[in-house]
Amino acid sequence: PTIYLLNGPNLNLLGQRQPEVYGHETLDDVLTLARAAAGDAARVEAFQSNHEGQLIDWIHEARRAADAIVINPGAYTHTSIAILDALNAFEGPVFEVHISQVHKREAFRHHSYVSLRADGVIAGLGIEGYAAAVRRAVALIGARGA
Ligand code: DQA
Repeated sequence: PTIYLLNGPNLNLLGQRQPEVYGHETLDDVLTLARAAAGDAARVEAFQSNHEGQLIDWIHEARRAADAIVINPGAYTHTSIAILDALNAFEGPVFEVHISQVHKREAFRHHSYVSLRADGVIAGLGIEGYAAAVRRAVALIGARGA
């Protein structure tokens, strides 16, 4: 089985960007952690883009190429009906990850379009949230017998 790990805008700067909020670990560290969490049970393919349409194209690709999606949509979480619609066209489990505890932050970060689709939402666990999401995705994929 394959898990798509999708990261949205500004997450390429992870480790450099507001480390007091997002920590010092990088997106490479996220991928290492996610792959370790998947172990031999699933392949993790990771993509990052600052562009909404690119993220949507990868979600469409996931329809044939992935069994589950773990996504941190960055600020598109709070704005993108188009990403929600794309995820609604995907049949497998979807997990939404936020490194920071968005509910403790500005009010505009409290609403997520993606949460209308996500089977689980993790916020405030730092990059460990990705590992938790991957472990849960692996458990669900296994349960489906994929
Ligand atoms: C984020 C939270 C979002 O509100 C923000 O726009 C991000 C990162 C997080 O991982 O905590 O870019 O998704």
